[in-house]
Amino acid sequence: MEKMNSMKSMTLLSVSHVSSGYGKNEVLQDVSFRVDEGEIVSLIGPNGAGKSTALKTVFGFLAVQKGDITFDGNGITKKKPHEMAKLGMCFVHQGRQIFRNMTVEENLILGAFADKKLEKNVDKVYSVFPVLKQKKKANASTLSGGQQQQLAIGRALMLKPKLLLLDEPSLGLDPKTVQLVFGKIKEIRKHGTTILLVEQNARMALEISDRAYVFETGRIKLEGAGRKLLKNKNVQKLYLGG
Ligand SMILES: Nc1ncnc2c1ncn2[C@@H]1O[C@H](COP(=O)(O)OP(=O)(O)OP(=O)(O)O)[C@@H](O)[C@H]1O
Ligand SMILES: [Mg+2]
Repeated sequence: MEKMNSMKSMTLLSVSHVSSGYGKNEVLQDVSFRVDEGEIVSLIGPNGAGKSTALKTVFGFLAVQKGDITFDGNGITKKKPHEMAKLGMCFVHQGRQIFRNMTVEENLILGAFADKKLEKNVDKVYSVFPVLKQKKKANASTLSGGQQQQLAIGRALMLKPKLLLLDEPSLGLDPKTVQLVFGKIKEIRKHGTTILLVEQNARMALEISDRAYVFETGRIKLEGAGRKLLKNKNVQKLYLGG
């Protein structure tokens, strides 16, 4: 019996009936979703639907006004961003925040928060992103958009997170580079990191996702397996260009 249970996928993140927003401006309304261990789960939907707000709420940047969030067996509803890394959650923000005046390797080492043990992860990160190894001495400002995105993700991986939150990794990248970055996301999942992805590029997101949730004006309108949503007529019409 015990064995049966352990073989079932475990819920890593559970967001239950959450409302949140900016001051009095409530954006998310009664939002519930979950991410199981080992999954890639996407939140898709149009501009301003509340996708980034959902990630910011999970990570503790925004206060939960109603509802509950649990992560890896811990109640995190009231936790703050600086407590998340230790619990095993990392966040790569929309627009990739990297230190432009530092080298690639300095950026990665900073990602380890001065933990000598974690600093050794830099070789693992280089094995996922060989281009970062080639460019480790280069100033981060000299990287292309795709390389900067890899650096931002690589820096988060220095902490060996159980769950990686990725906000719009495809933003501003050409289609070929988007393919490359999404390939890396699949590879990272293969190495054991669970992924919660926010994307306006719904087609790419659905193609690599086990499951997805469609957001619209702060609510979840639809959920299902990535492949299934790709075939959904409404999703096609609204988000996949017909
Ligand atoms: N810092 C902020 N202060 C006040 N309102 C905000 C703030 N950031 C976002 N909002 C509002 O919250 C709503 C949801 O925004 P959010 O950034 O979550 O959307 P999104 O789905 O991530 O959109 P996009 O695809 O454009 O990134 C929008 O109405 C937006 O105007
Ligand atoms: Mg956003």
